[in-house]
Amino acid sequence: MIASKSKHIANDLEIRFHAGGEDKWSADVALIPLWEKEVLHDTCEELYSAAPFLEIAPGMRDVTGRKDEINIVYGHPDLPYSRVMFIGMGKDRHTEDDAMDILRMAYARGLRKARAMHFSSVHIPWSSLERYGNAERALEEAVYACVLANYQNARYKWTAREDLTPCLEWLAVGFTEEYVPEAARQAARRGERAALTVIRARKLASAPANVLNPVTYAEKAMKLAQENRLSCEVLDEKALYEQGFGAHLAVGRGSANPPRLVILEHAPKGHEDDTPIVFIGKGITFDSGGISLKPAANMHQMKGDMTGSAAVLSAVLTLAEEEVPRRVIGLLALAENMPDGNAVKPGDVVQGYSRDMIEIVNTDAEGRLVLCDAIAYACRRWHPEVMVDVATLTGACMVALGDQLGGLFSNDDALASTILSAGHCAGEEYWRMPLWKGYNKKLKSPIADICHTAFGRAGGAITAALFLEHFVLEGTRWAHLDIAALDWKDTPDPLCDKGATGFSARTLLELGRGGVA
Ligand code: BES
Ligand code: ZN
Ligand code: ZN
Repeated sequence: MIASKSKHIANDLEIRFHAGGEDKWSADVALIPLWEKEVLHDTCEELYSAAPFLEIAPGMRDVTGRKDEINIVYGHPDLPYSRVMFIGMGKDRHTEDDAMDILRMAYARGLRKARAMHFSSVHIPWSSLERYGNAERALEEAVYACVLANYQNARYKWTAREDLTPCLEWLAVGFTEEYVPEAARQAARRGERAALTVIRARKLASAPANVLNPVTYAEKAMKLAQENRLSCEVLDEKALYEQGFGAHLAVGRGSANPPRLVILEHAPKGHEDDTPIVFIGKGITFDSGGISLKPAANMHQMKGDMTGSAAVLSAVLTLAEEEVPRRVIGLLALAENMPDGNAVKPGDVVQGYSRDMIEIVNTDAEGRLVLCDAIAYACRRWHPEVMVDVATLTGACMVALGDQLGGLFSNDDALASTILSAGHCAGEEYWRMPLWKGYNKKLKSPIADICHTAFGRAGGAITAALFLEHFVLEGTRWAHLDIAALDWKDTPDPLCDKGATGFSARTLLELGRGGVA
């Protein structure tokens, strides 16, 4: 038996490959998503050679492929391949693209079921993926879904560990060929790395604010960067002051934990002087609202107000691990927004990095203040060709788009459509929103160069984006992702437990992998 391990990166679910024929396959259960009325005999012959009992098993009568139906069909317990789980996907009326979304959820559902049954391994026959047109893409998404479904955040459970569902140990992909095709190996690895990127972002985002504050977060970023041969520079409050980051500093003034700007750079050999892609993440480790204090309900979720920066950090780390041949910069704009005697007050005027005088009306609109300085800085330091910021920026975006779509704002049509497709491929959907120039007048300040919040709540996601656009230098292709409603999940699904989602980490990863031409 050729049972080789993939290059293993810290993850509970080890990815294995079983080559050399169906008689070499083994696992606690095979996962087979199924369309309604699909005749497997025609499309997945190898499954019948691996599990011949399917021909006569009475349980096969119940397998219909109806949406969300799960059936396990059993063979003799002594067989190395004695259970097959069929996961219904409903009617096959989908394009190849939509099929990936359905497939992802089906594998995740199957894996959760395997976990609930305390299995320790699952198997995916390669030939069962060839039914989807593009077997490599299907494998990538199957592995992605399984690794994510196997994840649960146990970091802060100490005495109640019995609440946890056991995780699986390994997933194997089975081949009839003697050797594993390199394309399949790479597809599995791409899916695994994408899932680990999202998991890392989730772990960071669910870390409580007493664990992760701007100082400890910057230290953690530095440590992760060093482990991944990524260069990392941290600007502390003194450096931020000396370099003129007045808006960023204003946000952190009320906190005992001073602000930080983390600058990550992946510049592989031969690309050191390329014009980089710059990713910028909002990293408010806790957003109490400041003097414009938020109400108590759900305030605890504001530990996740740094999800944008977690997505940036995690994606850039993976791009470095994968040695993608392009220069990528990640900026993490970190601060804690707290009320205090030193805190910035409504009505204060501060000078930002761009030298603009900014009137602060509501201290709860802190995200755009840290971002506007990072944007102004990136434009002047790197003249990036493309700059994407990610932020849990406005409740208004949540009202506009709900909890399934991120808001996408961009000054460039080609960049916007690249992001829409990267998001779709990642299973993270965005909807393009307007940078409606007519609303710029809402940002006029009677006493300063610009006001940081618009008068009135109407169009709040748009006016926030327009405020950011003010700091983007002419000629820079820029996009802003408002992920306010997507950073946190109250209703769990098989791909994501209740809590931090890591949303947008994979979009950034796919953008970095594919480039943003
Ligand atoms: N972090 C919040 C936005 C948010 C709200 C994220 C809910 C996730 C869930 C942001 O800093 C904020 O408070 N924005 C204000 C802006 C307003 C004061 C102009 C908002 O949206 O209410
Ligand atoms: Zn806020
Ligand atoms: Zn915020």
